[in-house]
Amino acid sequence: MLHTADIAQMRVACRLASEVLDFVTPYVFAGITTGELDRLCHDYMVNVQGTVPASLNYQPPGFPPYPKATCISVNDVVCHGIPGEKVLKNGDILNIDLAVIKDGHFGDTSRMFVVGQGSILAKRLVETTYECMWLGIEQVRPGAHVGDIGHAIQKHAEARGYSVVREYCGHGIGTVFHDEPQILHYGRPGTGEELQPGMIFTVEPMINAGRREVRTMPDQWTVKTRDRSLSAQWEHTVLVTETGYEVLTVSEGTPATPQIR
Ligand code: MF3
Ligand code: CO
Ligand code: CO
Repeated sequence: MLHTADIAQMRVACRLASEVLDFVTPYVFAGITTGELDRLCHDYMVNVQGTVPASLNYQPPGFPPYPKATCISVNDVVCHGIPGEKVLKNGDILNIDLAVIKDGHFGDTSRMFVVGQGSILAKRLVETTYECMWLGIEQVRPGAHVGDIGHAIQKHAEARGYSVVREYCGHGIGTVFHDEPQILHYGRPGTGEELQPGMIFTVEPMINAGRREVRTMPDQWTVKTRDRSLSAQWEHTVLVTETGYEVLTVSEGTPATPQIR
């Protein structure tokens, strides 16, 4: 949790993170590799923005250093896909997740992309997951509880026949990348920590088209669905305001807030 003086700097870092996604969007097409997309993001951060890619060499206890500036998770990859030689093809869905550091402050955001013509099923998963993230964000206000966010997300995902990944959650963020509180993407209303003005955290649900179980690959980072079903994720960094919330990871290219039936 941050002190108020840091909020202006968080707005800057978060906008910059979102602007990297704006920048890379036109390059997401069939035939490009995930490694090339990562290189484009990396160079934009370092050479254009003067930001530091937060994930590069990031090493939580028990993990090898993460080797890239972004995570690119394609189809059945749930999260932490390591960019490389994989060539995107028509119909793939992918998440590009990145965090930047600007003047010691972290901004963390991700979006989904559909390559060319996606299947009805794939597009529905991507849209529903976006709605899940927003339904979670819309719970955010002083006096609400962390469990309200998770409940809103879980309810919508499961009503659509999807499942919520349990192993990864949103997180407090500020002058460190991953902080308290944990923002679970499932739960019961009124449970968990009470939200207070000035708190900043991410909401980043991972939703599977099939079962919720995941499996980590031998590279120790890449996480896939156990049943090989498609998975989607969106992420924003959000500030708790006096009256509700402010989404910090916004820029020109931020997709519109959804109209949820
Ligand atoms: N950006 C991810 C998150 O939303 C964290 C990625 S850590 C990495 O929290 F090392 F895999 F990049
Ligand atoms: Co992220
Ligand atoms: Co995050």
